[in-house]
Amino acid sequence: MKEIYEPKFVENLFDKMSSSYARVNYITSFGFSERWRRQCVEEPKIQEGKYVVDLMTGMGECWKHILKPSDENSILIGLDFSSEMVKRAKKRRHRHKDSKIEVLMENVFDNSFESGVADYVISGFGLKTFNHGQLVKLADEISRILKPCGEFSLIDVSVPQNKVLRTFYMLYLKKIIPILGKLFLGNPETYKMLGIYTEKFGNARNTLQIFDRPDFEVEYVEYFNGCASGIKGRKIK
Ligand SMILES: C[S@@+](CC[C@H](N)C(=O)[O-])C[C@H]1O[C@@H](n2cnc3c(N)ncnc32)[C@H](O)[C@@H]1O
Repeated sequence: MKEIYEPKFVENLFDKMSSSYARVNYITSFGFSERWRRQCVEEPKIQEGKYVVDLMTGMGECWKHILKPSDENSILIGLDFSSEMVKRAKKRRHRHKDSKIEVLMENVFDNSFESGVADYVISGFGLKTFNHGQLVKLADEISRILKPCGEFSLIDVSVPQNKVLRTFYMLYLKKIIPILGKLFLGNPETYKMLGIYTEKFGNARNTLQIFDRPDFEVEYVEYFNGCASGIKGRKIK
């Protein structure tokens, strides 16, 4: 099962999923994904005219929460390595005509950001496909990209700690979603992976431990009884 964290494996998965990702994301979170995304983006209170990086941007699902309609001076850079997701993200730029948005088709671990460039780093649902070592590298990259005092907020779908909720939610993710995938989206195998990644990810407490280091101030954040969780924080030097 080691290969599920290989970049090529993950990239192919999202290439395949791209045409149905929006619907599946909505279904897998019972329609909560949009609210969680907004809450995650709102954690750092993003100010206008800043440099914002959206890592694992997908099709730019977080952008509408990041960009305020009046804000023509912010620079938003979305990064993703799936060519299909990036293609769709580039199309989405038309919805934000007045904003400066750039999309980079890059691996987050081999990115072209200059050091200390970003005021904020956001990532929606981009953690679970990383193993421990990759999350350590992600912390390094976020620290490198952020300016001193720059802030970040990251979220992903999680395994709730409450036993009843956990049983129900994991049954839903691991058994029902692949059936829905087969019936409506034609690809049960791809959607099975979401349950597998989520189960292995657990919740963002593991990510918190990795980000709890001298260059960061960091906090755990829970969404809807732990069906999603994340971390928010600041680079302190
Ligand atoms: C679950 S989607 C999240 C999309 C979006 N941020 C959202 O809020 O729905 C995860 C995205 O992370 C991207 N991704 C995963 N690993 C990556 C990596 N190492 N470098 C760049 N992008 C990566 C995938 O291609 C996929 O588009």
